[in-house]
Amino acid sequence: MDRIKIVGGNRLNGIISISGAKNAALPLMIAALLTNDILTLEDVPCLADVELLIRILSNHGVDYSLNGQREHQTGFYSRTIHFNARHIVTTTAPYDLVSKMRASFWVIGPLLARVGEVGVSLPGGCAIGTRPVDFILDGLRALGAEINIENGYVHARTIKGLRGAQYRFPKVTVGGTHVLLMAATLAQGDTVLCNTACEPEVINLATCLNRMGARITGAGTSEIQITGVSSLSGARIKVIPDRIEIGTYAMAVTMTGGDVFLKGADPSLLCAVLQTLRKTGTEVIESAGGIRIRCTGDSIQPVDIETQSFPGFPTDLQAQFMGLMTRAKGISHITETIFENRFMHVQELSRLGASISLSGQTATVAGVDRLQGAQVMATDLRASVSLVIAGLAAEGETVVNRVYHLDRGFERLEEKLSRCGAQIERVRR
Ligand code: EPZ
Repeated sequence: MDRIKIVGGNRLNGIISISGAKNAALPLMIAALLTNDILTLEDVPCLADVELLIRILSNHGVDYSLNGQREHQTGFYSRTIHFNARHIVTTTAPYDLVSKMRASFWVIGPLLARVGEVGVSLPGGCAIGTRPVDFILDGLRALGAEINIENGYVHARTIKGLRGAQYRFPKVTVGGTHVLLMAATLAQGDTVLCNTACEPEVINLATCLNRMGARITGAGTSEIQITGVSSLSGARIKVIPDRIEIGTYAMAVTMTGGDVFLKGADPSLLCAVLQTLRKTGTEVIESAGGIRIRCTGDSIQPVDIETQSFPGFPTDLQAQFMGLMTRAKGISHITETIFENRFMHVQELSRLGASISLSGQTATVAGVDRLQGAQVMATDLRASVSLVIAGLAAEGETVVNRVYHLDRGFERLEEKLSRCGAQIERVRR
């Protein structure tokens, strides 16, 4: 298994190009199931999760073709992918595929809406929490689906198609909003979804669906209205920049010091995060083409955060921010409110010399003067990259194991960082 080797201590200087967002690309790819025309997505990131979803969609009969080149890369690495779901060959999403990536459960919405029946393996728990799908199923029931759960599979069907309805999510859920949005586009009549996720990835999906002929208003607010249509056509859309990648590199620069321009970064995608970074003492300069992160001082101020749905501080940047706070000049408190078990990085950061104590959903981080390199590993994507951030500032060598987690969500991480002066390399096995 590959590992990432980092020798800490170098400042970061230069330009990092921001990739398309994994969490926007995945639901957009799944939306291809709603039409027998071609859906073209631009700026799709080259990530293990994207490749896996391509395999999952292929299992349902989706054809795809690739074109376009990625910056700084020779050979063929596509940016643009065309999906064609004209012939759905199976509506079953098996355990061995769904268990590898939770988002693949979301095929339940479009397949049910277009074909009228679907069998999807329950995704099960994962490293960051139990992550049930009860609201997704309740929402589909509200649209008229009959749902049975047998032998670990959710079987959903409609006799006369889905019908528009009103459904209020008991808790904000990004995936639930994606699924119900996709399903309701082809339902008969009007649907109103309340307490919906306002995340930019939801807006990206709704924009795509509208380009395909759907009639959706209110995406990006907590109430979305959908008037069902009888069929959807093809469309072309660009995946939005990855706000978690932007935040991660901004924190890496704040951690090491330096001056980096995050090319293609859209500040409106992460206002709360940029505000927090300014409080740590970093200079954040917003411009039309990206965001410049400039660290003039040599100390990081401690800041308390609490994760929230958009526009709050995202849970997907909580681990990275904790990595940053391990070197702050004082004590910070980090509260996780979205997932019940998203602190696996605490123990590994401690191996690098961090001082963190946990009480319920809050971590108290006492900043230390120095971190020391060590062997570490993490059990999820964002936790892994928090160890990279800490490793960039640690004295000596840090080896991050289980790199496949990073490959799920960060495109060419080591290349982007080393171009800015970090001593980081992938050790292949
Ligand atoms: C999306 O997951 C993201 N994944 C996650 O990113 C992100 O952490 C999360 O949203 C929150 O922002 C993708 O976009 C592919 P949720 P999702 O449904 O949609 C509970 C990463 O690192 N819930 O918004 O699965 C749930 O347990 C990943 O890139 C129910 O109780 O998350 C959680 O506590 C990890 N019942 C909360 O809602 C349900 O039916 C929010 O989860 C659905 C959700």
